[in-house]
Amino acid sequence: MTDLPTLAEAASLTGGGLAAWATAHYYALPHALWADRHTRRALYRRAAIRRGWKRQTRQLGLGVAQPVPGWLDRALNRQPGPQHPWLRATADQYGVTIRTGTMLGVGLDEWVKQSEHLRNAWRAERIKITQPEPGRLNLRVLLRDPLADDAPSPLVAASGSGWRCTVTPGSLDPYDPILWGYDDDGHPVTSSLAGGVHGLIAGATRSGKSIGANTLLAVASLTRNVRLTIIDPNLATAAPWWRTAYRVTDSSDPDDAAAVLNAVSDELEGNKALFWESRTDRVSEFTEDRPLHVVVIDELPNYTRHPDRKKSERFAAALLRFASQSAKFGGRLWLIAQKPGADVLSTTVRMNLSARICYRVDTGEDFEHLFPEGRSLPFTAADRSLPPGVGVAAVGSMPAPVRFRSVHLPTEACWSIADAICAAGGQRRESGSAA
Ligand SMILES: Nc1ncnc2c1ncn2[C@@H]1O[C@H](COP(=O)(O)OP(=O)(O)OP(=O)(O)O)[C@@H](O)[C@H]1O
Ligand SMILES: [Mg+2]
Repeated sequence: MTDLPTLAEAASLTGGGLAAWATAHYYALPHALWADRHTRRALYRRAAIRRGWKRQTRQLGLGVAQPVPGWLDRALNRQPGPQHPWLRATADQYGVTIRTGTMLGVGLDEWVKQSEHLRNAWRAERIKITQPEPGRLNLRVLLRDPLADDAPSPLVAASGSGWRCTVTPGSLDPYDPILWGYDDDGHPVTSSLAGGVHGLIAGATRSGKSIGANTLLAVASLTRNVRLTIIDPNLATAAPWWRTAYRVTDSSDPDDAAAVLNAVSDELEGNKALFWESRTDRVSEFTEDRPLHVVVIDELPNYTRHPDRKKSERFAAALLRFASQSAKFGGRLWLIAQKPGADVLSTTVRMNLSARICYRVDTGEDFEHLFPEGRSLPFTAADRSLPPGVGVAAVGSMPAPVRFRSVHLPTEACWSIADAICAAGGQRRESGSAA
């Protein structure tokens, strides 16, 4: 008998513990405590959606009011109660993603018809309803517009009045995804250095090209088994990486740029022997001895439209050699230009640039330099109202181009990343010294 109070105590403790655990789980409290304020808001909205789900879906006719009795109902001689669709929901910094299912007589059309009511009930900015496969529905409930707000880069965190690099130098792999930004549904836009091929970044002046390229340069600098080469006549893009890049030049002479390109091409072609050894047609594993070479050229027209035609031609030959030969040996080329028209970039080189990012441009023609299919797309980057960092991207294995917003990695933050790389022993040359 003396054990009874102890048992009751234990039961109430267990019951209390379970209730606390269930509440914490329901509101995703551990997650919410660490999350940023946008994700926290979405987690609470997800809890509210779950609470009202049965009632709201029934009220909007998205459940089945009078289901046909099943065998058990018939055996027990009872009328089954109204049924509501099932629900799985996840939250992120832009909103809530709901997975649910169709019911008999309630399909995609019925959900789309009610989407305005759902948007009001859930106080969402926008709802997008899609059907990934028969019987299933996805509801993307956006609490804010991903294209409207600044999206901070995860590579750095604000620290006092400066920046702190959040990634340990050398901890990234060439196949890790690069987070370029977020599309207009708030989904990450990613590709990897090694998995992707060559790319092109374009946009009018002050449209966000350099900030976009900062992400590429930072990831290439922080990734092991990657050698980064930067060719930048203005030095603006290259300056933070001057100490850490494998090769770097700020010369505006096309011959100097061509020499750097050819040197990297020669190095890569040294990998030819590997093809015989490993019986492959493409280098796909990168090591310290056989690294991935990433070459970034800013202000491309400076070299391809140089007043000295002969120099421009020599540069164009070096560019074509790299663009057409290097990918299989482990080379990746990224070109940056305001307007990469036919006078700046030959069709043969362009055909090798499959990753494309276009920020704000002035004309539809400029947009079509990157996206020849531009006229049939439901959006364009030839829109003077686009804020810096917002554009159209087709990278990695994306099936179609998307509107997106780049993550914001300010150039000052790049200096902090380069400091972290130097502190970890990755310094190759002094600031301001020759390439
Ligand atoms: N993703 C972004 N998010 C927020 N602001 C951005 C973003 N990208 C660019 N900006 C803002 O726009 C300014 C210009 O961007 P950036 O220097 O990248 O332009 P650019 O296209 O390289 O211009 P230029 O042709 O003159 O070199 C930046 O200083 C920054 O304030
Ligand atoms: Mg720039």
